Amino acid sequence: MNPDATWHPVESHASSNLRDRAVVETACGGRTICLTRIGDAVHAFQPYCPHAGVPLCTGWVDSAGQVVCPAHGYKFSVRNGLCRGDTGYRLKTFAVRVEDDRIFVALPT
Ligand code: FES
Repeated sequence: MNPDATWHPVESHASSNLRDRAVVETACGGRTICLTRIGDAVHAFQPYCPHAGVPLCTGWVDSAGQVVCPAHGYKFSVRNGLCRGDTGYRLKTFAVRVEDDRIFVALPT
């Protein structure tokens, strides 16, 4: 986790409310982020594609745990933000913890 990050609760969704591999956009800590759940793990990342800014809530998460941007098909790991292929783009991802089904995201200050 980024040492300059602060934990913020997600008020809009509990972990159990997230459909597996669906991408949802929500507010957290005064910002907009995207969330997805893969099995028991919840992941958080920036809401816009780092390539050309398309909202990633219009994309989906594939079986390899990558969010797929529908605009040009770039794929980013929801775990570490790495882009498949040598594109030079990287998705910002944020640490997540879940306590009693409640989601907390660590956002940079
Ligand atoms: S805007 Fe997402 S791949 Fe181009």
